[in-house]
Amino acid sequence: MKIDVATLFPEAFDGLKVGIVGKALAKGLFELDLHNIRDYSTDKHRRCDDYPFGGGAGMLMTPQPLHDCINAVDPERRARRIYLSPKGQTLTQSKVVELSRQEALFFVCGAYEGVDQRVIDLDIDEELSIGDYVLTGGELAAMVAINAISRYIPGVLGSEQSTEEESFSDGLLEYPQYTRPAVFNGVAVPDVLLSGNHAEVDKWRRAQQLELTRKLRPDLLKGEDK
Ligand SMILES: C[S@@+](CC[C@H](N)C(=O)[O-])C[C@H]1O[C@@H](n2cnc3c(N)ncnc32)[C@H](O)[C@@H]1O
Repeated sequence: MKIDVATLFPEAFDGLKVGIVGKALAKGLFELDLHNIRDYSTDKHRRCDDYPFGGGAGMLMTPQPLHDCINAVDPERRARRIYLSPKGQTLTQSKVVELSRQEALFFVCGAYEGVDQRVIDLDIDEELSIGDYVLTGGELAAMVAINAISRYIPGVLGSEQSTEEESFSDGLLEYPQYTRPAVFNGVAVPDVLLSGNHAEVDKWRRAQQLELTRKLRPDLLKGEDK
């Protein structure tokens, strides 16, 4: 997969160079290309912002640098172009899986009070939010999306890790997990996990998933699980 990002702050993406995602990038399991929007500004001071027509607080990103950046990087419109925005559809695990199946993604990060609407209308396929709150820029949101998507790229997770048995993978939260020691601070691990009986362990885990989801995220439950 190829991922392009248009941003005023490419250095913010250093945060993706660590851990599992950093290793995947180093191994070339997917390609991440960062494009500084400012490099495309035709303004003599390389400005990328201006006051909003009609007044109001703050500045807006001007259309020219962003439009030129997006279309220079993706002239044939091959990538799915996504503008990170609090107005967008909220990122969920099923959306992550859907995006992980694309060949090319293009994340566009806003700043200031956002971008001129014409860029969204002309150049963007969809808007994506990481939650109902407002960030100062789209960089953290793009990194959240890229991190979650990269876990579905073949080879990124080691064989000991899996996207199959974790929260949201089957629409439920993950069951509680324990490791050694069997007793910690006087609290013992549930007996069933030490029993060696895999069928009983599976039954216990499924019951825990349902109980936890009912308690913490009843909105996730469908039909017979409610
Ligand atoms: C201060 S915000 C602009 C908010 C905009 N004025 C509004 O009220 O919808 C600046 C940039 O941060 C990004 N951003 C902020 N909150 C976000 C969120 N929840 N999800 C994704 N991107 C977000 C967007 O790219 C946005 O253009």
